[in-house]
Amino acid sequence: MNELLDYIEQKKHDETRQGEPLNIALNETEFKNNKHFYIESYGCAMNFSDSEIVASILSKQGYSLTPNIFDADLVLINTCSIREKAEQTVRQRLRSFNEIKEQKPGMLIGMLGCMAERLKSNLLEEEKLVDLVVGPDAYRSLPALIQEAEGGDRAVNVLLSREETYADISPVRLDKNGITAFISIMRGCDNMCSFCVVPFTRGRERSRNPETIVEEAKDLFEKGYREVTLLGQNVDSFKWKGEGKNDDKQAEVLVNFAQLLEKVALVNPLLRVRFSTSHPKDITDEVLHTIAKYNNICSYIHLPVQSGSSSCLERMNRTYDRDWYKNRVDAIRRIIPDCGISSDIIAGFCEETEEEHQDTLSMMDYAQYDYSYMFFYSERPGTLAARKYKDDMSLDIKKRRLAEIVDKQYQLSLESNLRDIGKTYEVLIEKISKKSEEEYCGRNSQNKMIIFPKGNYKIGDYVQVYIESANKATLKGRVVNEII
Ligand code: SAH
Ligand code: SF4
Ligand code: F3S
Repeated sequence: MNELLDYIEQKKHDETRQGEPLNIALNETEFKNNKHFYIESYGCAMNFSDSEIVASILSKQGYSLTPNIFDADLVLINTCSIREKAEQTVRQRLRSFNEIKEQKPGMLIGMLGCMAERLKSNLLEEEKLVDLVVGPDAYRSLPALIQEAEGGDRAVNVLLSREETYADISPVRLDKNGITAFISIMRGCDNMCSFCVVPFTRGRERSRNPETIVEEAKDLFEKGYREVTLLGQNVDSFKWKGEGKNDDKQAEVLVNFAQLLEKVALVNPLLRVRFSTSHPKDITDEVLHTIAKYNNICSYIHLPVQSGSSSCLERMNRTYDRDWYKNRVDAIRRIIPDCGISSDIIAGFCEETEEEHQDTLSMMDYAQYDYSYMFFYSERPGTLAARKYKDDMSLDIKKRRLAEIVDKQYQLSLESNLRDIGKTYEVLIEKISKKSEEEYCGRNSQNKMIIFPKGNYKIGDYVQVYIESANKATLKGRVVNEII
């Protein structure tokens, strides 16, 4: 069971993880003249995307990115607070950074992101693990904070903002394939799901100027990228009312999420558009019709249910119930019949009864998820649930319920993948497959990973792949003809 949980954590981590060695070629002179920074990111795609903003801010200050921590003058860790385990991982990494620092006393260690926000000065004073603490809305102050820290002072800026969207900062892309990229379209979250720490660590929701989003997508396309994922904690509540008017309740919404999707889709039919995360209470039929209208908007929706039980959803303060969620699934199936759907599910939330847990399992059957991220509840200090409810499910119950949810998902994923055998999908080639140099992998519109022999194709090509076999994680096939 522990292995299973580790696997899930690891998978989540792997999928969003940055911090693997990056192929940045530096000649010797550059290497000697520049200061170097090393960065690792944990948590969600927003953090990954923020690290690219940080990389941009630092490169303007003459810092170069290094894949090797031992060459770094500045070591940064972009952190996540979503579950206790995520924070433990970060502490472990910080300890090993400090061991390296013992041999390199001038090296600075900085903590960025959500944990920085949550713990504020604790890490500085109590644990002495870091020299810098910078919250998600304070990255523009990094250069000044580094200077402060170089002077021997400990530097902290964890101020949250109602306006900051880093709209004018052109991110330095840290991913390696050069084909897929994230674009942050909004920051923060105004929902108050009772289990969730994000509104505390990321502050109020604010949308980014859509023109800057479209410009970023155009620029990426020109540089050879073929897929963008629009990021926000709740993309369906994207609303642009004009510069400085985001907070104005009376002001008319000039661009909503459906309209933004359309604008990005129109950048080029060869640019795929994905988005994450959709909130069941906010996803509209207008968004679904927009997805259906454009071939390059992917038929895939991540629609976290969290629980299938109305009473549990109420304690979670998700503001929808079981019937509402089912109605949204029905609408997706009606408007986008081939749509892939995935979910996030929490097992063993406060006071969860066996019946409520069964409701989650039956909801999974109803929605026929292709994939789910599954967790057991981890109480986060300061959240509504921590204040209002008891974390009263034993670890055994949490683990058993999670195992049942995971089993169910494996079965659904396998069935869904087996149904794809004999079908042909358009696939964007992303990279060489991990298992064989002779194979490529890429995803179909529904976000399923497909592996196939390389042929004469190259990364970034669109190909039609006929599916020959499947297991619960991947599909395998062969290219039947190149369409572009
Ligand atoms: N904005 C997204 C979720 C972001 S957090 C949404 O609304 O769906 C990613 C996922 O982590 C959540 O969907 C939830 O399933 C899980 N999560 C959040 N807080 C948690 C907690 N305290 N314990 C366990 N899982 C949690
Ligand atoms: Fe957290 Fe809910 Fe906001 Fe998602 S919508 S980030 S779960 S508070
Ligand atoms: Fe974690 Fe913060 Fe994202 S808590 S999941 S990194 S918004």
